[in-house]
Amino acid sequence: MKPAESMTPRAASAVSHPNIALIKYWGNQDATLRLPANSSISMTLGGLETRTKVEFRPELRQDEFRLNGEKASNQALLRVSRHMDLIRKLAGIDSRAHVSSHNSYPHAAGVASSAAAFAALTRAGCAAAGIELSDRELSTLARRGSGSAARSIFGGFVEWHAAADDAASFAEPIAPPDHWPLVDLIAVVSQEEKSVGSTEGHALAQTSPLQEARVGDAERRLEICRQAILKRDFDQLAEVAEQDSNAMHAVMLTSVPPLYYWQPHTLAIMTAIGHWRSRGLGVFYTVDAGPNVHCICRPEHEAQARDHLEGLAGVKMVLRAEAGEGARLV
Ligand code: DP6
Repeated sequence: MKPAESMTPRAASAVSHPNIALIKYWGNQDATLRLPANSSISMTLGGLETRTKVEFRPELRQDEFRLNGEKASNQALLRVSRHMDLIRKLAGIDSRAHVSSHNSYPHAAGVASSAAAFAALTRAGCAAAGIELSDRELSTLARRGSGSAARSIFGGFVEWHAAADDAASFAEPIAPPDHWPLVDLIAVVSQEEKSVGSTEGHALAQTSPLQEARVGDAERRLEICRQAILKRDFDQLAEVAEQDSNAMHAVMLTSVPPLYYWQPHTLAIMTAIGHWRSRGLGVFYTVDAGPNVHCICRPEHEAQARDHLEGLAGVKMVLRAEAGEGARLV
């Protein structure tokens, strides 16, 4: 490979989507490498999109990062730059890069964007650096930027394997997006930046006496979830995903210090969803490290589920996503 100084500026762009975990990742066995305490399963969220361009510019003295047209914070730049260091090391180059990224959905929607961000950065960064990696290797590398990004490399329904070493902790697809066109209606109850981000939260997981039980039972939930997806068994998926989400929040609530991501409206929506499902509506909830509620519904029940959600107090807006594609170059 030519040294950076002699290479003509190289650029590449990629598009990626966030994902919603049906079996959650919470806590790491190795925080630096982002090796998770348990495997997890998600659905990639087509409809919400991050588009990232990476341009190596040998004249730059440090990396630059613009997010939605504005200079990003130093903290965000540092995280991007650390990830670019991994890509530079693999490619054997040291040119700095200009990175610009746009999200198609409002930041205020409170939807975690780091999965889509690091999946797109990994795809675009590797292409711009001239290295070709397999999807599995891209997933492993994306994981180093943000754990959940390992899953966004792939579309549809995806499992990310927990493992004790770097190369063995990658994601892979369980089923493509058209296997089961589920819809995610995201009921936004707060648009504020969360006070404790996921990275800090993962570090607290071990302080909860419930984490060991949650991780110990993960393989059982994973198997039920895999089977429910493969058989398209909505009720089975609903039950295991709600239990898994509650198990993660039980760990959060009992960490030292405790993390309270739910707000009163979060619980009101979760309760309402239980009533609606008992009356035959195909919808269940799952909640990440924030107060907004992901309401996963059968496609034929989407309109009714949206009507119900919009009628609830505290729902500021409802965003829509559906099973979508993995990260790709554009
Ligand atoms: C609650 O992947 O955002 O959404 O690895 O520190 O970037 P970092 O954390 P992140 O954590 C996601 C946590 C979650 C559950 C999940 O997506 O599995």
